[in-house]
Amino acid sequence: MSNYKYAAPCLMGVEKLLANELKFMGACDVIAENGRVFFSGGENIAVRANLRSRIAERVLLVCAEFSARSFDELYEGVRAVKWADYLPKNAAFPVTGKCLSSKLMSVSDCQGIIKKACAESLKSSYRVHGMLDESGNTYKIRFLIYKDKVSVMIDTSGEPLHKRGYRAVSNAAPMKETLAAALVEFSGVRKDTFVIDPFCGSGTILIESAQKALGICPGLQRKFACDKWELISPAVWEDERNLALMQYRSDSDFQAVGYDIDESSLKIARENAKLAGVADRIKFIERDIRDFCEDSSSGIVICNPPYGERLLDIKAAEELYRIMGQNFAKKDNWEYNIICPDDDFEKCFGRRADKRRKLYNGMLCCQLYRYFR
Ligand SMILES: C[S@@+](CC[C@H](N)C(=O)[O-])C[C@H]1O[C@@H](n2cnc3c(N)ncnc32)[C@H](O)[C@@H]1O
Repeated sequence: MSNYKYAAPCLMGVEKLLANELKFMGACDVIAENGRVFFSGGENIAVRANLRSRIAERVLLVCAEFSARSFDELYEGVRAVKWADYLPKNAAFPVTGKCLSSKLMSVSDCQGIIKKACAESLKSSYRVHGMLDESGNTYKIRFLIYKDKVSVMIDTSGEPLHKRGYRAVSNAAPMKETLAAALVEFSGVRKDTFVIDPFCGSGTILIESAQKALGICPGLQRKFACDKWELISPAVWEDERNLALMQYRSDSDFQAVGYDIDESSLKIARENAKLAGVADRIKFIERDIRDFCEDSSSGIVICNPPYGERLLDIKAAEELYRIMGQNFAKKDNWEYNIICPDDDFEKCFGRRADKRRKLYNGMLCCQLYRYFR
């Protein structure tokens, strides 16, 4: 098995979580950077990260890293790679990317140059004259030019990894599955935890909690760009799928309850939980936060209340934070984890958080307010 370098982009603020997740999977040389984590390993590690990572947005195979301040340097850097080591003769290889804070800022020009350099390298290796036949499997090339440093990578994931395959429909303001999974990690959900989400919407936080507690790997239900790559043998896929299935914890006592005032969201949540294979672990009940109560002796509340942006206005949202402060009683054996962008959240809630953590919900800068037992 060869040793490759990979990059896994992620949401800002969750890099260390992702680094730990990858180390736990057996990845080597794990280095967290702003918005992405680098690691290395064989083909099996790419498959494993795709199947098992709850936090990564994608898994990219890093083929070249170099500095370039001119189109010639960009061409030479890409041309120097032996692309035939990665791509078969008939590979389709569309190129997309981003240029940030660099001398080279024209994405379309860089795209064209990278495509041409890559094609020249393949033609020379495969002794092709004229056009390459791109009728085979797709190897999407992604580049990033940041502060004149070029990374050229192949996307092994295809659809982003937050698309687990269980969310057929969503409500008005669904949370990205990868962010929900990060909240679950930060909140310390374990195999026997009892979790409540009083604003559950389409159920994402509870479904991610259940899958974590039960050891259900998030990628088992979906397809990946590298499913049929010649680079990865079917035996690697079979082994990794079997290992992923073996993560299941039949000894888990995990249970959860989701409340929401919107019955149509609850209906979606029930469907999603069914598709995710965790419907028997989560109850979804119509209830206003004004009537919130915890009957259980211990547990963790994790929630994403309305922000007054897509749902409600800010005054109405802050009124809900006040009600939450009254109803989330200070009790032994209960913890509260609330993600919210409102700087006045603690004032409305009525207590200073024991811990805060900056996280992004899409483009929105939020804090995860944590209240310990
Ligand atoms: C930001 S969304 C939560 C999205 C959810 N995390 C998901 O992934 O789908 C907020 C939810 O709060 C619900 N909601 C609004 N006011 C409420 C109230 N007074 N009591 C309970 N739920 C409420 C909305 O119906 C909405 O589903």
